[in-house]
Amino acid sequence: MGLDDVKTIGVVGAGTMGSGIAQVVAAAGFNVVLRDVSEAALDRGFRIIERSLGKLVKKGKFTEETSKGVLGRIRKTLNLQDMREADLVIEAAFERMEVKKELFGELDKVCRPEVTLASNTSSLSITEIASSTSRPDKVVGMHFFNPVPVLTLVEIVQGLTTSEETMELAYQVARKLGKSPIKTKDQPGFIVNRILVPYMNEAAFAYMEGVGSAEEIDQAMKWGANMPIGPLALFDLVGIDVALDVLEVLYREFGDPKFRPAPILRQMVRAGYLGRKTGKGFFDYGEKV
Ligand code: CAA
Repeated sequence: MGLDDVKTIGVVGAGTMGSGIAQVVAAAGFNVVLRDVSEAALDRGFRIIERSLGKLVKKGKFTEETSKGVLGRIRKTLNLQDMREADLVIEAAFERMEVKKELFGELDKVCRPEVTLASNTSSLSITEIASSTSRPDKVVGMHFFNPVPVLTLVEIVQGLTTSEETMELAYQVARKLGKSPIKTKDQPGFIVNRILVPYMNEAAFAYMEGVGSAEEIDQAMKWGANMPIGPLALFDLVGIDVALDVLEVLYREFGDPKFRPAPILRQMVRAGYLGRKTGKGFFDYGEKV
């Protein structure tokens, strides 16, 4: 199956990442089938897309008409069976191996045998996810970055069983989305999160130890290292639960204490302080954003 055969792309999960992926996929001219498990989740995903398109229209990057066209190409569904229409599927569901394996097992039954199944996982093993299907050569990582409409990288992750042909198709699809793909191997955290998340974790330790306030730590990294936003604000953007999951995977898989999560992260997750999506993380947002 080549790039020209891909007309409809299924996106499983309408959260922050899934909705961003659906948006860029539809903006590139593909039809999208966007699936989540509740109407509320789908509606929230659509609101995220509308807000983002609104920003692009305001900046003059999109016309109102293009924006309407993007929304018109996204079909919402609660039914996983609708993924049978897809020529490629990108999964962006909950970051739990059991959830991914169950989903991929079901997708494997629903989708045509030649269809590639991609996961947006940020750190879980593609090889293990692939093992839950009868097409492990057609399972690949397509890891996007938040905010998906703005950041250009997509890591194309090769599991032990992923074929070169599947890697190339995922690479070409990412290019068609206007992204800058980089191929990488299935190692915990791939390239970016292996380097970025321990940096953020160190900032959480510094905060816990009172090295500076959240504002001071972030401002220091912006002024001193030219970061676009500070590491604690980045936790809030990514989701403290999501970043903690990445750290847990790095810690468990490498068995190296340098990846141990700062205890404050677990406490914040227990308190429901997950960052922007709950209105409070290291910083207060007043409302869910
Ligand atoms: N949709 C469309 N446009 C958006 C947008 C969205 N969701 N979010 C921001 N923008 C646009 C803004 O409209 C603005 O456009 P112009 O430059 O044309 O004016 C531009 O992006 C910059 O936005 P802001 O001025 O509001 O704020 P900013 O300068 O701080 O930029 C940012 C925002 C691009 C998010 C920037 O802060 C940034 O790059 N932050 C770091 C993000 C990062 O590191 N992400 C990776 C997280 S790790 C990850 O995702 C992987 C994982 O698995 C955990």
